Amino acid sequence: MEFTAMSVFKLPAAAEFGLDAIDTEHREIADSINACVEMAAKVTTRLDLMLFHDLRQKMADHFLHEETIMQQAGFPWLSEHQAHHQKILVRLAALVTQCGDKGGIELVDLAAMFESLIDDVLRADLAFKTFLYEKNLLR
Ligand SMILES: [Fe+2]
Ligand SMILES: [Fe+2]
Repeated sequence: MEFTAMSVFKLPAAAEFGLDAIDTEHREIADSINACVEMAAKVTTRLDLMLFHDLRQKMADHFLHEETIMQQAGFPWLSEHQAHHQKILVRLAALVTQCGDKGGIELVDLAAMFESLIDDVLRADLAFKTFLYEKNLLR
């Protein structure tokens, strides 16, 4: 897949969760990835690996926060969701290592990072959203 300076990763409208605390963090992570995309468009070299450590940390912080909210709400699939978060973090750690091996981050790696965000937002978090709706905790 080819990426250009105009490639900006957008969260689809369906990704809107309805809880400010969660939506804000999803948006902040997407914004951070896009800030890296803009940076990558301006340079011919690979981006510093430190940026990926920051992104991965942001994602890890979000996961912890989300798990706390789930626990407080009595979400019955918390451990499955935690396992899903862990899987994403392991994948991101591998991506960081891979980027370290090749000496930095490229646009294709940022796309992979965004894919991981989508994996959380669209494939896992929606089950929690459904649970909150069913319990009348979200409208
Ligand atoms: Fe999640
Ligand atoms: Fe999330």
